[in-house]
Amino acid sequence: MHPQPERVPYHLAIIMDGNGRWAQERGKPRHEGHRAGTENLRRVLRLCSQYGVKILTIFAFSTENWGRPPSEVAFLMRILETVIDREMEDLHANGVQLRHIGRLEGLQPHLQQKVRQAVERTRNNDRLILNVAFNYGGRDEIVNAVRRIITDGIPPDEVDEELLSYYLFTAGQADPDLIIRTSGEMRVSNFLVWQAAYAEYYATPTYWPDFDENEFYRALQAYTARQRRFGLVEAADHP
Ligand code: IPE
Ligand code: IPE
Ligand code: MG
Repeated sequence: MHPQPERVPYHLAIIMDGNGRWAQERGKPRHEGHRAGTENLRRVLRLCSQYGVKILTIFAFSTENWGRPPSEVAFLMRILETVIDREMEDLHANGVQLRHIGRLEGLQPHLQQKVRQAVERTRNNDRLILNVAFNYGGRDEIVNAVRRIITDGIPPDEVDEELLSYYLFTAGQADPDLIIRTSGEMRVSNFLVWQAAYAEYYATPTYWPDFDENEFYRALQAYTARQRRFGLVEAADHP
């Protein structure tokens, strides 16, 4: 293990991208990339625990990913199911609190049920919160929040940033400090649109299945070197 970096993000979010290209470059079908990416998640979860990340949010399936070929969509659904079946005991034993962010009602009923059970089972764990963004879209999340605010009859002058945050899937959680995107893409792709207002971004050309401990450490080092100003002036500049 590397030495502990000076600063570790309290909330780390990852856009796990590049599974398909990882597979393609090896002459394999795309789903092999998703399989390898799932294996890598285990490794990164362990690293988060070791380095003291308290919240990990992973982008696993976007509201736009439904537009992929049906066989790929079906494979990604099955991955969610097998991960819950195979990993839940371990996650639970390791103090991971599983949460889902996104439109659960858009998934098949048996999958909804599995997710709900896993969330319920691990709800009292407090070593690390794992938010699984599945059928998640940042805009969809905001629209959903606005609808519920209206349904609840909240008067307009009571609607502020704090209230809106409370209606998001991430209600009650600190905003992400660092967002990592693998595979070299420099875009947000509808991930945590509201919550990322002051997140630091880090991009690496490495495909998600190859994002290993050294890569992880490099991202933490980059984060340590950032100056987060939140719109203010640096402390050193004050008279
Ligand atoms: C990320 O890998 C996983 C999901 C979006 C589900 P991709 O499947 O997007 O891989 P590339 O970007 O096509 O290489
Ligand atoms: C973002 O990756 C979604 C996930 C990682 C689940 P995409 O591969 O879907 O994003 P685009 O299409 O490159 O923007
Ligand atoms: Mg992609």
